[in-house]
Amino acid sequence: MDEQQKKVILSGIQPSGALTLGSYLGAIKNWAELADSYDCYYMMADMHSITVRQNPADLRRRTVEQLAAYIACGLDPQKNTIFVQSHVPAHAQLSWVLNCYTMFGELTRMTQYKMKSEQHSDNINAGLFTYPALMAADILLYQADLVPVGGDQKQHVELTRNIAGRFNGIYGDVFKLPEPYIPAVGARVMSLSTPENKMSKSDPDQNGCVYVMDPPEDIMRKFKRAVTDCETSVRYDPVEKPGVSNLMQIYSVCTGATFAQIEQEFAGRGYGDFKPKVGETVVEMLRPIREETQRLIKDKAYLEAVYKDGAARACSVANKTLRKVYKKVGFVAL
Ligand code: TYM
Repeated sequence: MDEQQKKVILSGIQPSGALTLGSYLGAIKNWAELADSYDCYYMMADMHSITVRQNPADLRRRTVEQLAAYIACGLDPQKNTIFVQSHVPAHAQLSWVLNCYTMFGELTRMTQYKMKSEQHSDNINAGLFTYPALMAADILLYQADLVPVGGDQKQHVELTRNIAGRFNGIYGDVFKLPEPYIPAVGARVMSLSTPENKMSKSDPDQNGCVYVMDPPEDIMRKFKRAVTDCETSVRYDPVEKPGVSNLMQIYSVCTGATFAQIEQEFAGRGYGDFKPKVGETVVEMLRPIREETQRLIKDKAYLEAVYKDGAARACSVANKTLRKVYKKVGFVAL
C-alpha cells in the first residue's frame, strides 16, 4: 500500500511497572500484526507514569526494558516508529493547548481518575486529573485513525474524539477523529486472585498478576493458585464463574480456540487439569518474548539507536500538527 494512503495507528503503555499479561493480550499482541497495513507509532508513555510517584532509576530502566519488550513482541523498528514520549516535546506542548479545550466536568467523569485518586489519596495531583488531555495530545499529534488498546482505555479515546470534535468545530478540520481498536477477546484480562478486578501492574497482590518477564515456575504457580469456584466444570459464565471465565479468555487468546471448543476440550475434566494447562500455554507463548527481551536489554547501543531514530521520526510528524494548532489558536509564529 502507498505510504501516503496508509491509515495511522498510535498506542502506548506506561512504564510504571513491568509489562503484564493483561497489557500483552489486550494491546501489544495486536500491534505487531498491524505494521504492514498501517503507519504505526508506539511509545513508552513515561510522561503519564509520573502522575503517580516513581523511583527515577526504576522508571529509566523500565522505559528502556519496555522498548526491548516491544521489539521482542514483534514490533520491527524499521516498520514501526517506536519512541519515548518525553523525547517528543510536542506532546507536552499540545497537551497544554488541549487542556484549554477539555472541560472540568469531562475529566471528573473519567473512571481511571476516580480509581487512581482512591488508590493514591495522598497524591491527587493536577497531572492525574488532566492526564486524558495528554493522552489526547499523544493521539491527535499523529492524526491517528485507530488506537489499539484494552477496554479500560476506551473512555479516554472517546474523550479524545470529543476534544478533537470541539476543537475542529471552532477552527475547522485540524484533527482526525480516532477510533478505539479493542480486541473481541482479551480486552479485559482479570486478576488471577481477585477475578472481579482487572489484572494490573499496580495490584498489591502479586499472585493475581502475571508479568511477561516472569520465570516459567512463577507463571505456573500463579495459574495453579488461580481463584475459581466450587463447581468443577469448565464453562464460560463471567457473572457466576468470573475466575474460570477469565482463564478461558486467556486460553482462547493464546490458542485461538473458541469458548465452546474449550468447554469441549475440558468436558469431564476438573480445574486440576485446566489451570496448569492454561499456565503451560502462557509459559510457551511468553518464552520466546522473555528470552529475546533479555537478549536485547544487554544491547544498550542498539536500543539507544532505536529510540533516537524513533524520536526524530515522531518529532517531524508531531511538529507539523503542533504548528498548525499554534497558528489556529493565534500564537505568533517564531
Ligand atoms: P496502561 O499502561 O495502563 O496499559 C497499557 C495497555 O494495556 C491495556 N491493558 C489491558 N488490557 C486487557 N486487560 C488488562 N488487564 C489490561 N491492563 C492493561 C490497556 O488498555 C492499554 O491499552 N493511558 C494508557 C497509556 C497511553 C496511551 C496513550 C494509550 C498513554 N497515551 C495514547 C493509547 C494511546 C495507559 O495507562 O495504559
